[in-house]
Order: sequence, then C-alpha cells, then structure tokens
Amino acid sequence: MGNDLVIVANRLPVDRVTLPNGETGWRRSPGGLVAAIEPVMRTHGGGVWIGWPGGTDQKLKPFEEDGLALVPLSMTQDEIEGHYEGFANGTLWPLYHDLVAKPEFHREWWDEYVKVNRRFAEKAADLAAKNATVWVHDYQLQLVPQYLRELRPDLRIGFYLHIPFPPAELFQQLPWRRQLLEGLLGADLVGFQLPGAAQNFVRLVRQRVGHKTHRDLVYLPDGRVVRAAAFPISIDAAGFEDLANSDQVVERAKALREALGSPRTIFLGIDRLDYTKGIYARLRAFGELIRDGHFDVEDAVFVQVAVPSREQVEQYRLLRDEIERLVGRLNGDLGRIGRPAISYLHTSYPREEMAALYRAADIMVVTPYRDGMNLVAKEYVACRVEDDGALVLSEFAGAADELRQAWLVNPYDINGMKTALLEAYQAEPKELTRRMRAMRKQIRQHDVKAWASSFMTELEDQVHTDHQKVVR
Ligand code: F6P
Repeated sequence: MGNDLVIVANRLPVDRVTLPNGETGWRRSPGGLVAAIEPVMRTHGGGVWIGWPGGTDQKLKPFEEDGLALVPLSMTQDEIEGHYEGFANGTLWPLYHDLVAKPEFHREWWDEYVKVNRRFAEKAADLAAKNATVWVHDYQLQLVPQYLRELRPDLRIGFYLHIPFPPAELFQQLPWRRQLLEGLLGADLVGFQLPGAAQNFVRLVRQRVGHKTHRDLVYLPDGRVVRAAAFPISIDAAGFEDLANSDQVVERAKALREALGSPRTIFLGIDRLDYTKGIYARLRAFGELIRDGHFDVEDAVFVQVAVPSREQVEQYRLLRDEIERLVGRLNGDLGRIGRPAISYLHTSYPREEMAALYRAADIMVVTPYRDGMNLVAKEYVACRVEDDGALVLSEFAGAADELRQAWLVNPYDINGMKTALLEAYQAEPKELTRRMRAMRKQIRQHDVKAWASSFMTELEDQVHTDHQKVVR
C-alpha cells in the first residue's frame, strides 16, 4: 500500500506558528507555489504532500488539514540555516533571479542542502505506491529527482521549477552546477515557467554534463530520455471570480474604499517582502508623480501590502528597513492628516481579503526585477469581474508573456514606470475594458487546472515513450 500521487515541496501548505497567547496553530504558507498546488491536490482527491512545517525540530506526525493529507518533514536549526536560509535563499534565489542581490557560495550550505534533499527523497520513496507519480517542486529540492530515482526506479517523476532558470552565463558560476543538473535529470519531465528557461537548461546539460540533446529532449547514457518544457503556471480563475462576485467581498471592497477616504484612484501592490519584487522603485515612482503635481493625495493612494518573508535572512531584514524608511519619508513629505500617500501594511491576508483588495483597486502595480510568473497579477485580472481596472506589469515577470494588454514596464526605468502609471491613471474606461477583457479571457482559458493536467499528461506521455524506446 502507498500513495499513487506524492507532492514533494519544501513547504507544506500550512505553517506552524506560535500565537500571541503562546499556543501553537497553523497559518497558510506564503507564496505562489502553495496557491497553485493546493487546488491540484484537491482536484486529484488523494495523494500526500511532503513538506517542512516551518519552525525547528518539530516532531510532528502526518496529519490532515482541511481535507489534505500532509506529511511534515522537520528540520534542525543547522538545516534551516544551511539548506533553507543558506543555499536555497542565499545562493540559488539571487542567482536564479538575475543577480538582483549577490549570491553567496558556502560549502557548508551546500552540505546541508544535499542532506535535506536526501531526506525528502527517502520520505517520498517510503510513501509512494508501486509505479506511483511523484511531483517534486522548486529550487529548494533540485537533487530530489536523482536520489529518488536511485531509490525507486519504478516511479514516474516530474519536477517543476516555480522560479526562473538562469542563462548559462550566470548558472555556471555555481561550484555545484553539474550536481544540480544531474539532480534534475532524475526526473522524466522537468517543467519551467517559460520556454527560454527550458532552453537554458537543455543547453547547460549539453555543455556541462555532456549528454546528447535534441530540441527539448536529453538522452542519458542508460537509455532514459528526459524532456524539458515550459508549463506557465496559473491560478484557480473560476474560484477567484466566484469569490470576487460574492456579497461578502463586494461589501468588503466598498468598505475598504471608504476606509481609504473614497479617493478617485487606488493603486495596489501585494508582494512577499522580497528584493526581487521592485517595491522600492515603484513607490518612488508613485511618490514622484505626486511631487510633480500629476495627482494629489486627495485623488490617489497607494496601498502596499508587504507579506513578511524569510525574516531571518539578512538581505530581507535590510530590505524591510529600506522600504519602511521610504514609506515614512513619502508620507511625511507628501501626506496630509488622514491622507497618507502610501497605506503600508506588513502582513498577510486570507484569500477573501485579497479578493476585496483586488476589487477595490483601480490600478494594480506588479513590478518585479525578475519573477518566475507572479500569480498576484493573474489573481487581480481574475477578480476584475466588471472588466475594468488596469494592470501595470513588469516585462520581467513570467506573466508578461501572457498578459500582453497590461501596461508593460521596465522596472529599472523609473521614468518609464511613471509614464505607465500616469497613462493607466488617465486611461478611458473603454480602453480599460478592452485590455481587461482580453486578459481575463486568457486567464480563464489557462487556469491552474489546465496547467496541472497538461504537466501530468506530458509526464505520462514522456514515461510511455521512454519506456517504448527502452523496450525496443
Ligand atoms: O514560488 C517561489 C517560492 O520560493 C516557493 O518555493 C516558496 O514556497 C514561496 O516562494 C515562499 O517562500 P518561502 O517558502 O521561502 O516562504
């Protein structure tokens, strides 16, 4: 007996937290990965999810939360520091995001990464039924496919990278580049957000590991064939649309507008507090538009929700200080009593509140320097059930490939961002509708269900073709 579907991700969909009264409870984990995988598990109606429950040394038994079967894998303090804060978020994260920050290379971090990846693979090998499907997720677990294949050659293994995969020129800085590529090659199918990332991977495998490749296929010496392809991730579009249409959300959106002083225009940013997201530059652009007299704090407010993230990592702490200093300065210089220029919230919100914010906001501003996809942009579009509102979106977010009718901006170009924000502010309702309608259609047709089923179908096909090839 075992499970026919095993999801392996660094995090569980819920995070163990200590509440103000000292008791422990569960809170939904941050980030796009959880938002995307959760509906997949629910639709599948079975399977287990292996992940870290947050915190140190939590010896928790497998449990069920809101209908999902979860298997917690605890980490020691050394593992958190070396694997999670260190190699995953101090080395790979900045390297894979175009060196927005400087990656650090430490051998001790790598050792912990290897150790934790091995444990995840062993746990998956224990839980998977014969010939089961194991779907491994994201940059924290790139060695799992290889270790798992060694333990359980019968399994069908898929891997999906939620963040960008860098060009060879950057990736080859990594002292462990070959090991990471070989780790991923344990999968039958390696999925990326965009075609360019899949091409980067295949090229690197050819150059650095020396395997034969043809288009999106890699031929291994043992006869196995691995495919690398793009599967742009998405959201539960119908779920968000229903939520946005619910009485509760409509009411809440109205209340939010009133609480903000019923301004003409509400700008909105919702991001994990991460240096890749471009929060600082976007707030500066907005502040300059007020300073230059293009609009007034009576007309416009910028609501910035900054979701706490990776708070033990130095660069994230520094970023928080920088942004909060800027918000203080902008409000001090530009605000009036009861009318701040920026309404800043350092917190995370449940889906209902997010939907209400999306409904209340006239202009959504998503300006990362580099982002695998950015599901917030897609959620905003799905919630604009009246086909109004504007999206200002970075060219460097994966979502820009699909949401072509957004105001696309280069987040390094502050003047360019100012122009786009102003254009969106001044756009005629007809223009807004034309753009939003096209974007909503795109999101409805390419939702998270379509994403998961295309990955699963290709995984099945890949294993099948590969098997036929070996038998022949
Ligand atoms: O989507 C990218 C991602 O890094 C996920 O892998 C991750 O779960 C999420 O963002 C949030 O980050 P973290 O797990 O470090 O809080």
